[in-house]
Amino acid sequence: MTTPPIQNIAVIGLGTIGHSVAQVYAAAGCTVRCFDPDPTTGASLANRVRTNLKQMAAAGLSSRDDIEHVVSRFVICDSEAEAVSGAGFVSEAAAEDLTIKQALFARLENHIDRHTILASNTSTYPMTQISRDMVHPDRALVTHPFNPPHLLPIIEVVPGKSTSEQTVSAAMALIEFTGKRPVRLNLEMPGFLINRIQMAMVREVWDLLDRGVASAEDIDAAVRGSLGFRLAAIGPLAVCDFAGLDIWAKVFDNLAAEISADQQIPNTIRTLVDNEHYGTKSGRGFFNYSDENTLKTRTDARDRGFLEILKLFHSN
Ligand SMILES: NC(=O)c1ccc[n+]([C@@H]2O[C@H](COP(=O)([O-])OP(=O)(O)OC[C@H]3O[C@@H](n4cnc5c(N)ncnc54)[C@H](O)[C@@H]3O)[C@@H](O)[C@H]2O)c1
Repeated sequence: MTTPPIQNIAVIGLGTIGHSVAQVYAAAGCTVRCFDPDPTTGASLANRVRTNLKQMAAAGLSSRDDIEHVVSRFVICDSEAEAVSGAGFVSEAAAEDLTIKQALFARLENHIDRHTILASNTSTYPMTQISRDMVHPDRALVTHPFNPPHLLPIIEVVPGKSTSEQTVSAAMALIEFTGKRPVRLNLEMPGFLINRIQMAMVREVWDLLDRGVASAEDIDAAVRGSLGFRLAAIGPLAVCDFAGLDIWAKVFDNLAAEISADQQIPNTIRTLVDNEHYGTKSGRGFFNYSDENTLKTRTDARDRGFLEILKLFHSN
């Protein structure tokens, strides 16, 4: 195994994203020192990662023989100071709360070397806001993964106004070393790149559902079998090239004024949220997951799908 460009990583926050990010760095051969104020997350880290790795091994994407090597690279720490001590790169995956992140980034500077990089997994906050109270904001940037990070290959890299070029290139090199594809943004904006694109699609999908244009089942099947099908193989701009930009220009002219520009959540969706129908986590959202077997079957099907698409992503 080649030596990683940064050997010592710290991961702060071990929830949905943090445990999987810790796995990515440990699988690349890094030592990963971990901290979360909720001690149950540290205690369950190894088993959560074993489960992920067994699933990847079953799909032929990793070796069962490596599982215990990966898990042995975790060090569970009792404090954030202990976790970041000696780290070259800190990946923050604490709750999505600007005040927590601002305080954490300012505090961590007291326990790290001058050139340690501080990266946030935030889905929404620009680093210029998170690093507001830092002494050396040049070493901080956003590295935004997609859930689950151990399977999804893209990481958005978003420098803040003060982030140095050295910080960006070191973070990009580390991400590439883990086998992920960093995508650097030239401009810092809320939602970065993908959440903006995703929100544009979801706004239209919610509007169509709210207006009863098709059922939830039919909307999902239609998108999967058309847009999703194509996008699993090529990007949206290549889709336009294959169809012809002359055609796309016409479609844009004919539809741009027709599609939703809503700034309010449609009533149907607002009612679901108000009734605490949040999706898989509450047993009901657009679909019903109240039966544990249904949830397990759907989760397994989703993960099998992700694993197959991951093979496709790496093949072209
Ligand atoms: N869930 C997603 O799909 C997704 C995708 C990409 C990025 N993110 C981002 O990743 C980050 C973590 O999200 P998540 O979904 O893993 O949330 P989560 O709620 O599953 O986990 C957050 C963890 O942070 C811990 N925590 C809370 N306060 C802390 C503090 N002060 N210091 C250290 N740890 C603290 C909590 O105990 C919890 O274990 C957020 O910034 C989120 O926006 C989430």
